[in-house]
Amino acid sequence: MNGGQSGNRLRLTGHVLANTAISSGLIRLDLDLGRPVSFAPGQFAMLNLTGPDSLVFSRPFSILACEETVVSFLYRVVGRGTALLARQEPGCVVTFFGPLGGSFPPPPDDSPVVILAGGVGLPPLYAWWRRYRRGEDRAYFGGRDGADVPWSLLEEGWRVSVDRLTNLPPGAEAWEGLVVDYGRHELTTSDGPRLVLACGPAPLLRAAARWAAEGNWPCLVSVEERMGCGYGVCNGCVVPLLATGDATDAVLPYATCCEEGPVFAAERIDWDAFARTE
Ligand SMILES: Cc1cc2nc3c(=O)[nH]c(=O)nc-3n(C[C@H](O)[C@H](O)[C@H](O)COP(=O)(O)OP(=O)(O)OC[C@H]3O[C@@H](n4cnc5c(N)ncnc54)[C@H](O)[C@@H]3O)c2cc1C
Ligand code: FES
Repeated sequence: MNGGQSGNRLRLTGHVLANTAISSGLIRLDLDLGRPVSFAPGQFAMLNLTGPDSLVFSRPFSILACEETVVSFLYRVVGRGTALLARQEPGCVVTFFGPLGGSFPPPPDDSPVVILAGGVGLPPLYAWWRRYRRGEDRAYFGGRDGADVPWSLLEEGWRVSVDRLTNLPPGAEAWEGLVVDYGRHELTTSDGPRLVLACGPAPLLRAAARWAAEGNWPCLVSVEERMGCGYGVCNGCVVPLLATGDATDAVLPYATCCEEGPVFAAERIDWDAFARTE
């Protein structure tokens, strides 16, 4: 048997099937875990390498998709761990611990959903869109330029914005500007509440939270913090919350990103303190 299980968390060893760039900055990793894994959109796994590349701390990555025994991720190289991960070739062993954390909920019956995904914030919302999307929901993805956009993942109704209208593949359409502004531009005339789901860099999340608050729309964001354990033991991943006046959280207005998150109501987060921890 491959690995062990605690709750619905699995410790498994996977074999790399593919680890290939699907845009100028984004790499898709397909891992064969040897058994099916069920996950909810927004959950993540802690990945690690083996042998001389093994890392002291596993790294968290959102789950993009699970098809039969193959689990997929989308990542950007930002430091040592992701640089080593990018060097893993088909057949290499990568350890998997997950699924972990909370998830984005299914769509509410009474309002359409607006998705705002930036860069490597795509996986949880890609998974949500594939599982739950309805005709009235809208999904927006923001990248740096046309080459940065993983077009192959965005065929099912995604609208795309780019910081710079350069390197667009033939026939591809994109709006120039920030993804939050694109959504706002398209939805300014919409009636009634919408549920906003956002994942991406902190400035995107802050802007989404502000925009949603202005429209009195509920907003859920998936945030990133550096992680140690991934399951609520080390307190290495705390997210600053706004004090509610409750005596207990006035003393410690923090939540763990790994267990209590990574999905939070945007209005719960202390965005000024969160910005300081970037
Ligand atoms: C719940 C969750 C889901 C994530 N999903 C994805 C994903 O789907 N795809 C993806 O590419 N990345 C994702 N990340 C971020 C990913 O974990 C980090 O990019 C990775 O751990 C960096 O490892 P490294 O060794 O390459 O970088 P390091 O050398 O450790 O750091 C390089 C730089 O990245 C910053 N950094 C490192 N880890 C984080 C982090 N967790 N949050 C914010 N900044 C960080 C550091 O401060 C530093 O500036 C996720 C993070 C979390 C918490
Ligand atoms: S990573 Fe250890 S408590 Fe969250």
